[in-house]
Amino acid sequence: MASTPSQTGPLRHFLQFRDLSRDEIHYVLDRARLIKDKFKRYQPHHTLHDRNLAMVFEKASTRTRVSFEAGMYQLGGSVIHLTTGDSQLGRAEPIEDTARVISRMVDLVMIRTFEQTRIERFAAHSRVPVINGLTNEFHPCQILADIFTYIEHAGSIEGKTVAWIGDGNNMAYTWLQAAEILGFRLHVSAPQGYQLDRKRIGQPPETVLREFADPMQACRGAHLVTTDVWTSMGYEAENEERRQAFADWCVDAEMMAVADPAALFMHCLPAHRGEEVTGDVIDGPQSVVWDEAENRLHVQKALMEFLLLGQVA
Ligand code: CP
Repeated sequence: MASTPSQTGPLRHFLQFRDLSRDEIHYVLDRARLIKDKFKRYQPHHTLHDRNLAMVFEKASTRTRVSFEAGMYQLGGSVIHLTTGDSQLGRAEPIEDTARVISRMVDLVMIRTFEQTRIERFAAHSRVPVINGLTNEFHPCQILADIFTYIEHAGSIEGKTVAWIGDGNNMAYTWLQAAEILGFRLHVSAPQGYQLDRKRIGQPPETVLREFADPMQACRGAHLVTTDVWTSMGYEAENEERRQAFADWCVDAEMMAVADPAALFMHCLPAHRGEEVTGDVIDGPQSVVWDEAENRLHVQKALMEFLLLGQVA
C-alpha cells in the first residue's frame, strides 16, 4: 500500500462500511463523541490543520456537502468542491486520470457518484484516502451517523433490532454490513422486485437478517424503524412505477405502535412526507432525524481524522 506525506500510516479508504473493523468503528464513534462535545462547547479542534479535502459530486447533495465542508474547516483544513458539470469529469476524462491528478494535490477525497465500481476505480489510482459520500450501492457515512445517533439516544446497538422499511437500496445494503460487523439484527421489508439481491448478499444468518413481506411484521419489536425515499437518485425514470409498488411501505403511527415502546425513527433525508413516512411519525416524539442529520458532521470529522492520522487517542 502507498503512503502519502500527510498520512501517518498505510493508505486506508472508506468505500464500504466493512472497510473498517468493529474496533475501528467503535474508535471513530467514540472520537465523534469527543469531537461533538468540543463543538458544542465552542472549543477548537484543529487536528487537520492545513489539510485539504477535495469533494467530488456527481449527484446532488445538501447534508453531505455541508457536513464535509463545514467539518473540514472546523478541523483546521480547507475544501475544494467539484461537480461533474464544472470539472473535466463531465467531459469524459477517465476517472483513473482524475484520481491520479487530484490525489497529488490534496490530502483526502470524498466522492458521491453512481456505480460503486467508479469510486473503487478512483481509489485504486489515488495516493490519498477516499471516502464514499454515496454510491448506488452503499452510503457508509450515513450509517455511521445513524449508529452514532442510535447510541446517543438509546445506548449500545448490539443485540438490538433495526427495521428497514421500503427500498432495498444503498442504505439497506449498508445497514446489512453494519449488522454483520456490530452484532445487531436487521429486519427488511421491501415490495416485490425491490428486495435485497441474494446474489449480492448471499445467505446471512437469521441472527443478522430477516426479511418480511409485511412491513408491520418487520417493525414488530424493533428498536429502530428507518426508511428512505421510494425513488433514490438516479432511478427517477421509475418514479411512477415505484409510487404504485411502494404504496403500503409508508412508515406510519401503526407501524411505530408495534415496534418497541422506546423505538426511534430515523430517515437519512431528504424526506417525502405522505410517501415513505407520515408527517406525524417524522415530526413526532420518536423521530431523531435532525440529530441524525447533524451527526453526519461529527462522525465524518472523526472519520477524516482517522483516515489521515490513525488512532490518536
Ligand atoms: N442523507 C444524505 O446523504 O443527504 P444529501 O443527499 O442531502 O447529502
